[in-house]
Amino acid sequence: MSAPPVLLEIPADGVWLIRINRPAARNAINLAVRKLLVQHPTAAGEDESARCVIVTGNDQAFAAGADIKEMAGAGTIEMIQRGVLKLWRATAACPKPVIAAVSGYALGGGCELAMTCDIIIAGESAKFGQPEIRIGIIPGGGGTQRLTSALGKYKAMRYLLTGDMFTAKQAFDMGLVSELVADAEVEARAIAMATQIAALSPLAVQQAKDVVLRGMDAALDTGLALETKALHLLFSGQDQKEGMAAFIEKRKPKFEGK
Ligand code: CAA
Repeated sequence: MSAPPVLLEIPADGVWLIRINRPAARNAINLAVRKLLVQHPTAAGEDESARCVIVTGNDQAFAAGADIKEMAGAGTIEMIQRGVLKLWRATAACPKPVIAAVSGYALGGGCELAMTCDIIIAGESAKFGQPEIRIGIIPGGGGTQRLTSALGKYKAMRYLLTGDMFTAKQAFDMGLVSELVADAEVEARAIAMATQIAALSPLAVQQAKDVVLRGMDAALDTGLALETKALHLLFSGQDQKEGMAAFIEKRKPKFEGK
């Protein structure tokens, strides 16, 4: 039996690693991959043991985009019936922090998938881009919006309208990549960061993520109000008491998410 096109691994306590596994197709995202990219992040969102999620591919490709061969002959109705946008929303909607560990190509839907994550760690020779324009379409997984939000209008337009790729270093300099590391260190660095996050209060981590994301769509005053309310909410939990007591008693805190 062949391996599933997306694998779920648990490389460290509290860390779920979701690995796209279609190396022969440069991890192109077909419907089978999309379904698992809904199933695993949704399960991570619901499972208490998952504190931080990593999405990754292999050395050659994070993902080279939606599967062109699978959609080449499709019509409008079929595209609507596939409900692709709904599938993209699963990683973006995961309440736990999600780290994209990017090696190789992150193109089209692959770049969009990385941009649904909260943190992007990229290897030095990774390549990003939204090449859809070159095959007569435009991005459909949020690329026109998230790339513009990350890069600003003029840089985003430059890449969206030409389909040119950009390097991990350029992505880092433009604010799309959180951390640039040696190619061989991408996965280990993502696991180390995920482990660090997994040891923190899951309540505080999820509130921080939620407030940042909601604030991006809101006026500053609304975002600030959300932040204040989330902060006050955390004072009703044990993790806040534990975190502050541990600081005062000069010991390591043990957060239970309560
Ligand atoms: N869909 C389907 N198959 C793909 C694919 C994709 N997006 N990307 C690569 N493949 C397949 C190739 O067809 C090839 O298959 P065969 O061996 O059967 O010929 C195999 O993967 C290896 O690819 P290459 O020989 O091209 O490998 P390379 O290392 O020379 O080049 C690449 C790698 C630059 C990623 C190149 O494959 C490429 O340009 N891929 C397409 C990138 C792209 O246009 N992505 C956007 C897709 S559209 C999209 O994502 C839309 C959306 O958001 C809704």
